[in-house]
Amino acid sequence: MAEAFNELTLPAAKAERYATVAEEIASVLDGEPNLTARMATVASMLAASFDTFFWTGFYVVDPDKDRELVVGPYQGTLGCLRIAYGRGVCGAAAETGQIQLVPDVHAFPGHIACDGRSASEVVVPVFDGQGRLIAVFDVDSTEPAAFDEIDAKWLELILKATFSA
Ligand code: SME
Repeated sequence: MAEAFNELTLPAAKAERYATVAEEIASVLDGEPNLTARMATVASMLAASFDTFFWTGFYVVDPDKDRELVVGPYQGTLGCLRIAYGRGVCGAAAETGQIQLVPDVHAFPGHIACDGRSASEVVVPVFDGQGRLIAVFDVDSTEPAAFDEIDAKWLELILKATFSA
């Protein structure tokens, strides 16, 4: 009974929390054009909203390198500094421009273990207003299968509203 109750209410609670933090992010960033400030605020506010977010942050496209991401604003333990397109989950998101929802990182070919405690992750590509890839947003959890379509959709929505509008 309790389990069924949880199943019915938890997704709604999660979506509601995303809706609230989405509004808060938009309100804090209103009128702020600086990209680093915008990324730092998104990472901080999302990490603070969900206990499951163990590592939360951006790998940005390095304009000085060919197809390489460099770590940007984040919350969490030490992240790797650079990730080539096509490498690991972040590199796959950069390469394909598609959201990567990975329930078991150890089953993902080429996964980069910045922190061995990460068990699952979601990575969302971030585009500017002209549709150019500017970064990927990576959220890792120590729990397996911590993320689902609700996370993917809401993160995509928040990142679009913050960086593509
Ligand atoms: N998990 C990522 C690497 C980045 S960190 O975990 C912070 C990946 O495989 O792309």
